[in-house]
Amino acid sequence: MLAIDGGEPVTNKPFPTSMLGPAAIGEEEVEAVAAVVRSQRIFRFLDHENSHCTRLERLFQELTGCPHALAVGGGTAALICGLVGLGVGDGDEVIVPGYTYIASASAILICGAVPVISEIDESLTMDPDGIEHLITPRTKALMPVHMRGIPCDMDRLAAVARKHNLLVIEDCAQACGGLYRGQRLGSFGDVGCFSLQQFKVITAGEGGMVVTHRREVFERAAIRHDSAMCFWNPDDTSTGPFPGENFRLNEMEGALGCVQFGRLESILGRTRALYKRIHAAIADCPGIQPHRTNDPEGDCGITVAMLLESGPRAKWFAEALRAEGIPAGSMYNQGIPDRHIFRFWEYVMEKRSSDKHGRPWTSPLHDQSRTYDPNMCPRTLDILGRTVTISLSQTYEDQHADYIIEAIHKVASASSN
Ligand SMILES: Cc1ncc(COP(=O)(O)O)c(C=O)c1O
Repeated sequence: MLAIDGGEPVTNKPFPTSMLGPAAIGEEEVEAVAAVVRSQRIFRFLDHENSHCTRLERLFQELTGCPHALAVGGGTAALICGLVGLGVGDGDEVIVPGYTYIASASAILICGAVPVISEIDESLTMDPDGIEHLITPRTKALMPVHMRGIPCDMDRLAAVARKHNLLVIEDCAQACGGLYRGQRLGSFGDVGCFSLQQFKVITAGEGGMVVTHRREVFERAAIRHDSAMCFWNPDDTSTGPFPGENFRLNEMEGALGCVQFGRLESILGRTRALYKRIHAAIADCPGIQPHRTNDPEGDCGITVAMLLESGPRAKWFAEALRAEGIPAGSMYNQGIPDRHIFRFWEYVMEKRSSDKHGRPWTSPLHDQSRTYDPNMCPRTLDILGRTVTISLSQTYEDQHADYIIEAIHKVASASSN
């Protein structure tokens, strides 16, 4: 009998944390941060060559094969700098999937552009077939988001971008270390943006990284990230000065990020092994459609997702798994305002802004007839409504994977009531 109906659960033991980078923090991180504090050199530009932030940038250059990397204070800051790097601004539209953290849309608005929301497909990432009808003369860029470590279909997205002469900014906040067809995420687009916040594969507490193949994109991003950047090495840049912010990373974050970077492959090695073990065992499970990833080898393996036949069945399935002792969730519950789902991006849906004149929405350069609606991407809502997820962490033993497998089979073979 199912545990939800009063039977014995698959396991009574609580799972370890599903955190990734933070759960790997050990003495090395403590020492690295303490050494920075002891040194009293906590600002990155005191000694550029020996800076931990510079070291972290080099590690991301090596990881992605991009010749330019800029450490910034967060993933949102990385997106803002990346968009500014590409010259995105007033009057431009950027296509963003309806399933991503609200920060992706926020970054677009902060740059003076407006987000145009596209559908996702069963991979939970931007649907390459759902873009072309959204393209207008204002469309400047696509923002594919590798959600939950799942690589977007970069071949087909790049083809759409090429055909319509659009720029590509990859949001890799949740997919550090992921690949698509053997190539690192972040290196496909004109610019790639990472986050090092608490919930990410590796963490610096807060932090982000912009990577690009293009020198002028890097220069513009760097100028935006520091209000005085363009005056420090004026000979170093062909880009004229313009106003910047303070999006600098500090040395404590840089040092923490470097130690965590050293753990990236071992974290992903473990999550990918768990993911493959579970996927192989549930491939033929009746009544569920295991998640279709765009690249099973390159996927970070941090999410097991299953598509059920209906929303109510997904909700029940997640509850039944939880009763069996498995930390599962359904992705879209009407009652829970999840800011990863477009309909809960209130300031987009209602076109709100901090500006008393309502910019950028009210800019004469924007299409004033553009509207947003909580039901505008029905396919995205349908897919998310039918999806059940289980997050994976390197903290899980094989035994936890086996509990997950056993519980999925047990629940799938029972009919909902
Ligand atoms: C997909 C996505 N984009 C952007 C961000 C923003 O990153 P941060 O919180 O570091 O600003 C996040 C995470 O928070 C995210 O998950």
